[in-house]
Amino acid sequence: MGTPIDEGLFLSMLVKMINAKNTLEIGVFTGYSLLTTALALPEDGRITAIDFNQESFDLGLEFMKKAGVDHKINFIKSDSLKALDQLVNGEKQEFDFAFVDADKTNYVNFLERLLKLVKVGGTIAFDNTLWFGTVVDEEDEVITRMRPYRTAILEFNKKIALDPRVEIALVSIGDGITLCRRLV
Ligand SMILES: C[S@@+](CC[C@H](N)C(=O)[O-])C[C@H]1O[C@@H](n2cnc3c(N)ncnc32)[C@H](O)[C@@H]1O
Repeated sequence: MGTPIDEGLFLSMLVKMINAKNTLEIGVFTGYSLLTTALALPEDGRITAIDFNQESFDLGLEFMKKAGVDHKINFIKSDSLKALDQLVNGEKQEFDFAFVDADKTNYVNFLERLLKLVKVGGTIAFDNTLWFGTVVDEEDEVITRMRPYRTAILEFNKKIALDPRVEIALVSIGDGITLCRRLV
């Protein structure tokens, strides 16, 4: 379920290249992408990390502590859409970068919230947008359990390609990561 190593290195480089300081992560699991982002952030950087699974986060927390980056992490145990709505309606804050790696059926909804939370010129990265390569297959060629997320990803990919509020690049690393730069 984790992020591949080459994608982790890519994320680390990206976070440094855009000088991100305040970031958001949706879908933590045991925290590989969280750790790679935390290590890439400056000492006073901050990640708000959302996942409804506390146990998997706690497993990885030991490694965040060993790496000396746990002070950068604000973990929110919640359903992601609910947490994002609370952030949108809460005290105003602007994020430089967001990494999305949970609940593919809500990518379209995450985008709407993230366009309110990530600054103009900021970057949102949506993971798994090639969905293990199945986006180019016919539906009946795809194993049944992969179909619901494939359908959601296809819908998301079509929508975001036409969305004038963002500039995108689908990078073929891992099983695809779509980078969106907020334009307006
Ligand atoms: C693919 S894993 C994340 C992997 C992680 N980025 C890494 O590098 O290891 C997806 C995570 O999203 C969480 N998740 C799935 N749906 C969610 C939802 N609706 N709200 C909050 N968390 C969710 C799961 O608990 C799981 O830990």
